[in-house]
Amino acid sequence: LRIAPYGGRKQVGGMKKIIVHLKKRSYPIVIGRNLLPSLGRFLKSLRLGPKVLIVTNLRIQTRFPKLKISLRRAGFEVYQHLLSHGNERDKSERELLRLWNAMSRIPLDRTSTVLALGGGVVGDVSGFAASTYMRGISLVQIPTTLLAQVDSAIGGKTAINLPSAKNAVGTFYQPKAVYADVEALKVLGKDRLGREEFKNSFMEVIKYGMIRDIQLFELLERKIRWFFDSLERKTLGREELSFLQAVVTRSALVKAKVVESDEKEVSGKRMILNYGHTFAHALESASKYKMPHGEAVGMGMILAGELACRMGIFKRHLQLRQVYLVRQVGLRLGYRFSSARLLPLMKRDKKARAGKLCFVLPEKIGQVGVYDRVPEKLVREVIERYRSRGLR
Ligand SMILES: NC(=O)c1ccc[n+]([C@@H]2O[C@H](COP(=O)([O-])OP(=O)(O)OC[C@H]3O[C@@H](n4cnc5c(N)ncnc54)[C@H](O)[C@@H]3O)[C@@H](O)[C@H]2O)c1
Ligand SMILES: [Zn+2]
Repeated sequence: LRIAPYGGRKQVGGMKKIIVHLKKRSYPIVIGRNLLPSLGRFLKSLRLGPKVLIVTNLRIQTRFPKLKISLRRAGFEVYQHLLSHGNERDKSERELLRLWNAMSRIPLDRTSTVLALGGGVVGDVSGFAASTYMRGISLVQIPTTLLAQVDSAIGGKTAINLPSAKNAVGTFYQPKAVYADVEALKVLGKDRLGREEFKNSFMEVIKYGMIRDIQLFELLERKIRWFFDSLERKTLGREELSFLQAVVTRSALVKAKVVESDEKEVSGKRMILNYGHTFAHALESASKYKMPHGEAVGMGMILAGELACRMGIFKRHLQLRQVYLVRQVGLRLGYRFSSARLLPLMKRDKKARAGKLCFVLPEKIGQVGVYDRVPEKLVREVIERYRSRGLR
């Protein structure tokens, strides 16, 4: 995978630009350090209308006080809307309605832009609102968590939750741009919660390595231990941030390429992003969503690798490398659920087809395939093999 350096006139050291090629809906992902102060200028270059609405929450808003100044300086009329909770509860129909009403009170018009400033929660609910208000107005994603930078801000999925199901209502709606400043992650490394967020997000990064980018996988093998060690000891410095920038860039490129090949998940090619997730969704659901997503995905990848070994499509020594890397992140990786409990949940997964089990399985590091005729007996054996083992 090749990554072009940022081609803009005012090239800032090491800034990268990836284009997501989707014909008329193509857009750039810009990744770099200390980008946020130039947000206004960047948006100007996208030729957006005069009104912009920043959607964020209180905690994030106080972190980036200079953002509005940059936007005003570039000539934008700036509005702001704060989501109420600062967590998953913001992905509700109530918050969505509040946001729609705020948009209409300003009022935003067809030429206005929503700026989603925050993690995946902010991105998902503001994306949904932007995609539906006046049948769709411009959206720019400004992801401020690692998960949002490598995953949720890219690819155009938006959603809110229903009490009965996560991400049950949503749209496919591509942003006009994604603007990812790794400097924004600095504060996240400072407290325990932020560090947990990092660990969970790294599972998606390992996933990208496994499905399409062996170089990313090897970069993690070389550096992940060092990165988490320094995260425990001090705040993120120059070296850590350049590592993160490389990680975000390579991950974003993998996601962009996969999305390009199957924007709306029709051909099945986008399904490879679901590597580790068939098991993960079942584990999360069985735990009543107490198990964090990254822990579930880490365990899910180990289970998928084991399944692939037993089917003879993945070499044992490669599985050992995968398990070793996943464990180095330092998350708890155990569960007590039986195969009798997990299998029915897996058959009900959004991505299962007509109740048939369908798996994304590794063939090599950097290559996966989709398998829909996996013997149920093997799946059961694999689940039982790892049951109740603490795998930290
Ligand atoms: N649309 C997609 O394709 C997609 C993909 C994966 C996940 N998701 C969704 O993303 C959500 C999870 O996203 P997340 O992990 O980013 O969690 P999150 O959005 O809840 O953010 C985590 C916490 O960090 C805070 N925060 C964000 N940026 C900060 C910063 N720079 N400094 C300090 N605090 C900051 C947030 O306010 C929040 O409290 C889930 O709802 C999930 O369903 C969507
Ligand atoms: Zn995931």
